[in-house]
Amino acid sequence: MKDKIKALAKKRNAIILAHNYQPPEIQDIADLCGDSLELSIKASGTTADIIVFCGVHFMAETAVILSPAKTVLLPATDAGCPMADMIDPSALREKKKALGNIPVITYVNSSAAVKAESDICCTSANVIKIVESIKADEILMTPDKNLALYAASRTLKKIHLWDGFCPFHNTLRANDVIKAKQDHPEALFIAHPECPPEVLALADRIESTSGMIKFAGESTHPSFILGTENGLLYPISKTYPDKKFYPASGKMECRDMKKITLEKLFESLETLSGRITVPEDIREKAWGSVQKMIEL
Ligand code: 13P
Ligand code: SF4
Repeated sequence: MKDKIKALAKKRNAIILAHNYQPPEIQDIADLCGDSLELSIKASGTTADIIVFCGVHFMAETAVILSPAKTVLLPATDAGCPMADMIDPSALREKKKALGNIPVITYVNSSAAVKAESDICCTSANVIKIVESIKADEILMTPDKNLALYAASRTLKKIHLWDGFCPFHNTLRANDVIKAKQDHPEALFIAHPECPPEVLALADRIESTSGMIKFAGESTHPSFILGTENGLLYPISKTYPDKKFYPASGKMECRDMKKITLEKLFESLETLSGRITVPEDIREKAWGSVQKMIEL
C-alpha cells in the first residue's frame, strides 16, 4: 500500500502533508510532518498540483485558503476538530459588537468562515508574537480559552476569552502531571498551551508540537513527560531514539486525528475524493488573516 501511494502521488504531482498527531504509518509516508504553522507555510509554498492533507478539516481548509488553485484532499472528510466547532461566524460577530469591535486573534483551529471574521490568525507556536504585534490594548482571542489565558499571562494587554477548548488537552489536570512526575522524577515536563493554566503552571517548558520535538533535541535532558495529544510520542521518539518520552496522561487521544488510514489515503488520491473547498468570498477574507500571521 505504501509503494502504491508513493507511486500515485508522484504520478499526480501530489504532496502529502501530515500533522504530528497522525497515526505512525501516515507520518511515515508523508513528504512533510509538522505542527500547524509549519504545515500552513509548506502548503502555501509547494509547487505540487495536489495537496493531500493528513490532519483535520480546518487544516485542509487553511491549505485551500493559501493555495486556491490547487486541489486539496482530506482523506477522511469526517475528521473535524471539536474545538473549531465551538465557534461560528455569527456568534463571533455578536461578541465583537458587544466588545466594541476590538481586534480579534483567531487560533488556526477554526473554520475558514471564522478566520474570515478575524483580524489575524495565530498558532500555538507564534501566539505571543502575534499578540504583541497588535496595536491595541484589548484583544479578543478565539476559540481556545486556554491558549488565550496562556497569552494573557505573558502580556500586559487585556485579553478577552472565547469559551472554547480542546476536549483532550483540557482534560489534563495538575494531579495527572504530579503523578507522572512522581513516576518519572528525572523527566522535564513539556506542555502544550491548549492545556489548562493549572497544568501550564507545572511546566518546565510550553511549546507547540514541533516546538516540543525541537526542545527535546536541544535539551541535554534524557527524558521528558509530554502534556499533549499522545500521537506526538511517535515522531518525537523516532527523532530521538536514545531519549525517553512519557505521556502525562493516557486520556489524551484525539479520535479525529486518527481517522485517516493508508487505504483512505490511497482511495482519496486515486479518485480525488475528499476534496475540500471554501467559497471565494470567505477564502479571500480568511486569506488576509492567515497571510498576516505568516508574514509576521
Ligand atoms: P500544533 O501542532 O500547532 O501545536 O497544534 C496542536 C493541535 O491541537 C492541532 O490540532
Ligand atoms: Fe482539535 Fe484537540 Fe483534536 Fe487538535 S487535538 S484536532 S485541537 S480536538
